[in-house]
Amino acid sequence: MSVKITMVGTGYVGLVTGACFAEIGHQVICVDKDEKKINNLNQGIIPIYEPGLDELVLRNIRNGRLKFSTDVKTSSSERDAIFLCVGTPPHPETGAADLQYVYAAAEEVALGLDGFTVVVTKSTVPVGTNRQVFGILSKYGNLKNSLAVASNPEFLREGAAITDFMEPDRVVVGVENDRAAKLMREIYEPIVAASIPFVQTSIESAEVIKYAANGFLAVKLSYINEVSDLCEVVGANVSDVAKGIGLDKRIGSSFLRVGPGWGGSCFPKDSMALHKTAKDFGVTMRLIESAIIANDERKLSMADRVKKYCGGSLQGKRIAILGLTFKGQTDDMRESPSLVIIPQLQREGAIVSAFDPSQPEGIDDLLPGITISSTPEELCVNADALVIMTEWREFRSYDYANFAKSMNCKVAIDLRNLLDEKSMQMAGFDAYHRLGE
Ligand code: UGA
Repeated sequence: MSVKITMVGTGYVGLVTGACFAEIGHQVICVDKDEKKINNLNQGIIPIYEPGLDELVLRNIRNGRLKFSTDVKTSSSERDAIFLCVGTPPHPETGAADLQYVYAAAEEVALGLDGFTVVVTKSTVPVGTNRQVFGILSKYGNLKNSLAVASNPEFLREGAAITDFMEPDRVVVGVENDRAAKLMREIYEPIVAASIPFVQTSIESAEVIKYAANGFLAVKLSYINEVSDLCEVVGANVSDVAKGIGLDKRIGSSFLRVGPGWGGSCFPKDSMALHKTAKDFGVTMRLIESAIIANDERKLSMADRVKKYCGGSLQGKRIAILGLTFKGQTDDMRESPSLVIIPQLQREGAIVSAFDPSQPEGIDDLLPGITISSTPEELCVNADALVIMTEWREFRSYDYANFAKSMNCKVAIDLRNLLDEKSMQMAGFDAYHRLGE
């Protein structure tokens, strides 16, 4: 059955989810206040970097299932479901999720509602928010009997979002109204039909699931990063350790890749918000707090590591950074470890240049004083060390022998354990350092 859906907020989550809903047969309107963005989208110009999204958007614009608008009120009338996908940025001091955009969207949606509509929160919101949204919507006329709310957290990863939508591990819906529950199942039917679990819970449980999932993954990453430091001093190898523990089904092998610290628009924000919510409710959550602290310290310790491998001083050293974004296959710089590590290298006197395949925007403001190279070859000329910061897939197939030739010191520091020691030696590197070995 085709469901009439409106996505309020055409950022990363709203656009990917809206395009995917259209792809599985629903009639979708994606709304955003940003007129330029909507005009561009109407012409098929995509504001974000996500593999496969352009074709998906274009195909569904052409087949008439995907439309774009700047008008929330009109786009909220005669719809079966309205998904709130606006941002919930962290408060700069407390780390709490800022809900002003969610509540403002709910107010605007309420003005357009008619007929039975489910207002679904997709934005990552702390426990209790959906009931607040219901309260806002219920203020308007006699809506109370013709609307329901649902919490439907998203688990998409940047760079793999379309596959994550089409083949999720599960769909989670917090809903307490039978008619709304039936509609939510209909929306996801083309996906869950293929034996994907549809987890229906209370609204509060769904809200907690999102934070508990991201928090757990953040703890898992900080844990393996700390295990990696231990491996290094006791002569163990973290890749073997990760394999050895990950094959235990209770632990699982994913999210055990060591790195320079976790970043992105979700883990840092959500782990802080989880910690804040727990604190507000008088609950002690030491693990998430420790994971945050360990991650902050990890990023800085990566700069110490570069200094150590450059002979104990970075004064006047030319450091070449391969990859700037928070992970590979994205142009997203939010909370990227590079934003902490590079300024620390500069404070120690290093001259930093960088290359990133996605050529992220705004680097001059984010990382003042660094030189951006247009190719990895150019990056390596006269460098005293090459630092692999991001796990871009294409980094595996670069011609490192060619890079080594033009370097001043043939030192490579791999903060993602992406390459292999033997081939780096054969490529002419005198030293190749990995994490946790
Ligand atoms: C994350 C979650 O994985 C998604 O399920 C969730 O929907 C999303 O947040 C969100 O809340 O919106 P994302 O931020 O796109 O997705 O990035 P991840 O692929 O999860 O990576 C997060 C960070 O962990 C990156 O800095 C990455 O480099 C790092 N990481 C990940 C590792 O260092 N090692 C790993 O094994 C995996």
